[in-house]
Amino acid sequence: MALNFSRRLLAKLAGLSALGLAMPAAAAERKGKPAQDRFVPAAFPKAFVWGTATSSYQIEGAVNEDGRGPSIWDTFSHTAGKIADHSNGDRANEHYHRYREDVQLIKRLGARAYRFSIAWPRVFPDGTGTPNPKGLDFYNRLIDQLLANGIEPYATLYHWDLPQALEDRAGGWRSSDTSKAFGDYAGHVAARISDRVKNIFTINEAGRFLNFGYGWGIDAPGLKLPAAELNQARHNVVLGHGLAVQAIRAAARKGTRVGPAENIAACVPAFATPEHIRATEMATRELNAGLLGVMLEGKYTDGFLEYAGKDAPKFTAEELKIIGAKNDFVGLNIYAPQFYIAASDKKPGWAVLPFPSSFPHMNSEWLHIGPEVIYWAPKIAAKIWNIDTIYISENGTSSEDKLRDDGKVYDLDRISFLRNYLAQLQRATSEGVPVKGYFLWSLMDNFEWIFGYEKRFGLYHVDFQTQVRTPKLSTEFFRDVVARNAIGP
Ligand code: NOJ
Repeated sequence: MALNFSRRLLAKLAGLSALGLAMPAAAAERKGKPAQDRFVPAAFPKAFVWGTATSSYQIEGAVNEDGRGPSIWDTFSHTAGKIADHSNGDRANEHYHRYREDVQLIKRLGARAYRFSIAWPRVFPDGTGTPNPKGLDFYNRLIDQLLANGIEPYATLYHWDLPQALEDRAGGWRSSDTSKAFGDYAGHVAARISDRVKNIFTINEAGRFLNFGYGWGIDAPGLKLPAAELNQARHNVVLGHGLAVQAIRAAARKGTRVGPAENIAACVPAFATPEHIRATEMATRELNAGLLGVMLEGKYTDGFLEYAGKDAPKFTAEELKIIGAKNDFVGLNIYAPQFYIAASDKKPGWAVLPFPSSFPHMNSEWLHIGPEVIYWAPKIAAKIWNIDTIYISENGTSSEDKLRDDGKVYDLDRISFLRNYLAQLQRATSEGVPVKGYFLWSLMDNFEWIFGYEKRFGLYHVDFQTQVRTPKLSTEFFRDVVARNAIGP
């Protein structure tokens, strides 16, 4: 095929080639490479971790079995008017009893890692005190089953199902008693699973459950706290994270790795000029200062404290030291660009741009489609906080996911979403952004919190009447990506 290269383009290609990023066309052809491979590095890094993710309350069911205590989500989902389809997690995916079958679903994807969460009220039904003797049995069975099938377990300790007892007794995350209880629970669990589980996430999406659950009253426990109390609850959560890191280091086998799984306030430059990129870096630091920032810097930024003013959290230097304990990795849950940022002449030098209502979104309205977010957010996070190991602890989308007459689900929109996001992630890793793994949310459709079972995020379709799991077309797509460790061509 005759291609007309301009001189400028040829010069550019030669320059890229010098950096080892691309081969000029002729050289590529001489080496027998397919044309598509010329400009984009061919694959994710070697040893890239591919996995899927779920959480306890969203899939387990069995809420009254084997001594489990109630959680704030049991209470909340049983409160009239809170869940869109009036459902709850009582039964969910019956994963507590069907975990063997579900491990086979994971295996079929070829993905060698799985992120699940441990329900605190199964282990300490009362939040603290005497552990339930049967509390960890289920997770031990699950972990053993995963390992027997060649799947590496990644455990999350807190995915929102706080023991109701702690909410009643201590006011949940409004009190640092809960932070201490979380540290104790973390140490207890780590001592018992770290012979087999090498990677532990502490707290999942503090940014979501605090705002939604303690600020706006939308999630459990349904509180609308004033700013000062909300900031204090935030502080108690990051303190809980720090105490958990300490407790895990003290109790776990050597080599156990720990870090948070946070829904970073994901900022994207309006478009990629050096000014907007610099502005986006500043915005990322400030907009994450109350959670990820303090965990990674061990201090609140001046901007955060100034903005909070009299509502700023009360804290001690000792607490900041605990909160800032070194993590082994940082998990980032990345779905949608949250803020598009532009440089500004006015202080603080950056501005959040308004979202046009016509911005495209997926089947969940909040899920704006901006694949470049999974390129920029980890890249900027790694730069501003000097992180050397990032996992994308969640990414994925809901889709209509209709089971057709032929028994299939053609979730082409999910495939399109994943293809575009993964291409941007591959772009990031090829530039050396230290993303070491990716967990797709979710393995299977499940209880999507306030949306109940109406929003389906799974690679496998679940019929919640019969509990039949059906692979969607996206399982084949994902299996292919994992097998080749690459996206496209
Ligand atoms: C993040 C949460 O961690 C998970 O529980 C939820 O289902 C997904 N986002 C999708 O909304």
